[in-house]
Amino acid sequence: MKLLVVGSGGREHAIIKKLKENRDVDVIFALPGNGGIAQDAVCVPIGATDIAGITAFAKENAVDYAVVAPDDPLVLGCVDALEKEGIPCFGPRANAAIIEGSKVFSKNLMKKYGIPTARYEVFDDMGKALAYLETAPVPTVVKADGLALGKGVVIAQTRQEAKDAVLSMMRDKKFGKSGDRVVIEEFLTGPEVSVLAFTDGKCVKPMVSSMDHKRAKDGDQGLNTGGMGTVAPNPYYTEKIAQQCMEEIFLPTMRAMNEEGRTFCGCLYFGLMITPDGPKVIEYNCRFGDPETQVVLPLLESDLLTVMQAVTNGTLEDCDVTVKKGCAACIIMASEGYPASYEKGYEITIPEDLQDSVYVAGAALKDGKLVTSGGRVLGVTAAADTLREAVDAAYAKVDRIRFDNAYWRRDIGARALAVKED
Ligand code: AMP
Ligand code: GLY
Repeated sequence: MKLLVVGSGGREHAIIKKLKENRDVDVIFALPGNGGIAQDAVCVPIGATDIAGITAFAKENAVDYAVVAPDDPLVLGCVDALEKEGIPCFGPRANAAIIEGSKVFSKNLMKKYGIPTARYEVFDDMGKALAYLETAPVPTVVKADGLALGKGVVIAQTRQEAKDAVLSMMRDKKFGKSGDRVVIEEFLTGPEVSVLAFTDGKCVKPMVSSMDHKRAKDGDQGLNTGGMGTVAPNPYYTEKIAQQCMEEIFLPTMRAMNEEGRTFCGCLYFGLMITPDGPKVIEYNCRFGDPETQVVLPLLESDLLTVMQAVTNGTLEDCDVTVKKGCAACIIMASEGYPASYEKGYEITIPEDLQDSVYVAGAALKDGKLVTSGGRVLGVTAAADTLREAVDAAYAKVDRIRFDNAYWRRDIGARALAVKED
């Protein structure tokens, strides 16, 4: 089979490595992929949002199955365009990807169908948003409606900070049209859990839960990033909470999307907070999370391509989604300075025996050598029987990988381990 994967990060590398385990796979094209992904796939320089280019390539090369991994092509209708050409795809159509593409949509969906989430107000008028903030309780959370590269959320400790966030989104257009509308919502507290689940609109089959580490520095300090590391499973996600989430969040979300005529087929990401009042939805993503995928897929026992095709065919009910026993940890090796400014172009050395454990996020090939080209450079993963062993093994691998200006957090998994050892 000829497969095509749209995207260029560590998540796509993890998806590609897992797809390759299926013996029917002859070749995988990565559009555009990156210098590290080139080890496992044929990288083609067509951008992830070049829908016409992707579709034309898929047709010309008689691709049998396509996986659209990132949010922007999904929201732009990449799956719709490929399906129109008769190419079976993994990923939601645009009318369902809106669950991530518009926070106003997802908040209104949750309200309409009684799915637990933070209380909120929506504003398309800046004056009204600012007036509301005069009396709103703080801390409060200001969110741009549309996609904003994961940067459209501001946790404001004071009313002034909240007003500044509204001004930067609505007046200064920091996120362009994504900030034309804002959601101002209640600040919730509690541990966060990510759950990635397959759904074909008829059933929901979650994979192992995970915990992201979003802040740049140890101790959850510093700026918000795309994610500095992950562990799975998430110890806060107990059997009881999992059951509650299935009944109160996962199935109601699937049914709500069906009810709205927006059946979601693909991987639905539930960003949850386990509040004192029970689990609530912080956000939905219409795709695999990054870097959650880098710990979740290594713990997936089932064949990924088989599960994806079952989702596409609407036969997920008959397909096992089995999770391996054990734990996994992924440490992101970044460029010093990320997520602000950083230098790139430094050569990366990865020992041969570690190639399988490394998911390349931001690296390019230059004169045949792998060099850093992004803020997040590598995800280094290990799986083991216990979380302690997985974390230690992942850090032992990190210590054997070299590039100048490398930076990584030293405390990935510390919080999860503290829970486990309580
Ligand atoms: P998001 O981009 O929606 O995942 O938000 C980024 C981060 O902001 C989340 O992972 C949470 O840590 C935090 N966050 C978002 N919404 C809330 C909320 N209502 N209360 C507290 N923290 C929040
Ligand atoms: N790790 C969070 C996300 O993929 O959006």
